[in-house]
Amino acid sequence: MNTNPSQNNRVLSGMRPTGKLHLGHLHGVLHNWLELQHTHECFFFVADWHALTTEYDNTKIIPGSSTEMVIDWLSAGVSPSAATLFIQSHVPEHAELHLLLSMITPLGWLERVPTYKDQQDKLKEKDLATYGFLGYPLLQSADILAYKAGNVPVGEDQVAHVELTREVARRFNFLYGKEPDFEEKAKLAISKMGKKNAKLYREHRKRYQEQGEAEALEVAQALLESQQNISIGDKERLFGYLEGQGKIILPEPQALLTKASKMPGLDGQKMSKSYNNTISLREDAQSVEKKIRTMPTDPARVKRTDPGNPEKCPVWQFHEIYSSEDTRTWAREGCTSASIGCIDCKQPVIEAVEVELQPIRERANEYLEDEATVQSIIKEGCEEARDVARDTLDDVREAIGLS
Ligand code: TRP
Ligand code: SF4
Repeated sequence: MNTNPSQNNRVLSGMRPTGKLHLGHLHGVLHNWLELQHTHECFFFVADWHALTTEYDNTKIIPGSSTEMVIDWLSAGVSPSAATLFIQSHVPEHAELHLLLSMITPLGWLERVPTYKDQQDKLKEKDLATYGFLGYPLLQSADILAYKAGNVPVGEDQVAHVELTREVARRFNFLYGKEPDFEEKAKLAISKMGKKNAKLYREHRKRYQEQGEAEALEVAQALLESQQNISIGDKERLFGYLEGQGKIILPEPQALLTKASKMPGLDGQKMSKSYNNTISLREDAQSVEKKIRTMPTDPARVKRTDPGNPEKCPVWQFHEIYSSEDTRTWAREGCTSASIGCIDCKQPVIEAVEVELQPIRERANEYLEDEATVQSIIKEGCEEARDVARDTLDDVREAIGLS
């Protein structure tokens, strides 16, 4: 383990701009972000360079979709005062870090990432035998490490990318975390903690290194965490010194697995643009109504008088998300006894989706009418992000010997 708890609280996540966000995003990723923004320092960004790895032959849509995506986030309730929102390509430090990390990343690590072959198979019509596509997960590592983020909310399919990031960070720290006078600097830093704390630190370090007591490591880390009198550089040295290696420059992040969205598509499959079964966040009321009214239902209910089975009906899955206990009981009983029709059954779902989407749509309209506000949110976010990423790159260059 090679973690640095002092930065562990920061959250970073990105989304590729691949078109309008829909209810699947809202009930998966976005609800998760909305919670995190109040408990953690959050950085959320539009991964437009990542989109380029697969859309390099169709770049016209990217700039527009980046702004549209930020509008969707804002409309869903992501708050620019609680989280930093930015666009990847506006922070060139990501590219510099990607390049530097590429020097130390064995090819085999990238070739083994499961998404590499999976996506190539899945997107057969595209030529993904490119250098950029192979580097996709390493660019993601640079995204994460540029902010020394401790937590990365991602879906199941992205966990391997966070795993790779941990390996790359470990390798980086191993190669470049060794200052020639590390030991002396660490000892000097210990003495700056004051007599009592220095003694505690030494004791716990010894217990961890000699007895392997994980608890002693945690105590020492918490102790370091609470030190006000030593510099960040000294803290990083002492976190590294605890575990026996050099200074930790790039802390290893952790994946925060986002629960898969329970939101099904209109046809009962996963909601996804490629299945053409979505309701977008800004869909107008008439269109939502029409889409739900024409949703398929239990195929056994051919006539109004045929009883149905909610378990075989996609509309029922919507009830499970949107309806109260009472409404569900009404729908279930009405369905199995054929006392209600499918259109009756769909009505409360139509209303509930509208209650959810109406304020989102309204906010989106406000932002659409006030492009300047959106642009200034993005601009400020990019500047904030850049300040953090610049600091990291200063550390990184210095460690490599490029400064
Ligand atoms: N690869 C992610 C996806 O396809 C998007 C992404 C890019 C990302 N960089 C990231 C997610 C950094 C988390 C952290 O969904
Ligand atoms: Fe589905 Fe409701 Fe129709 Fe039953 S009554 S088949 S649950 S839409």
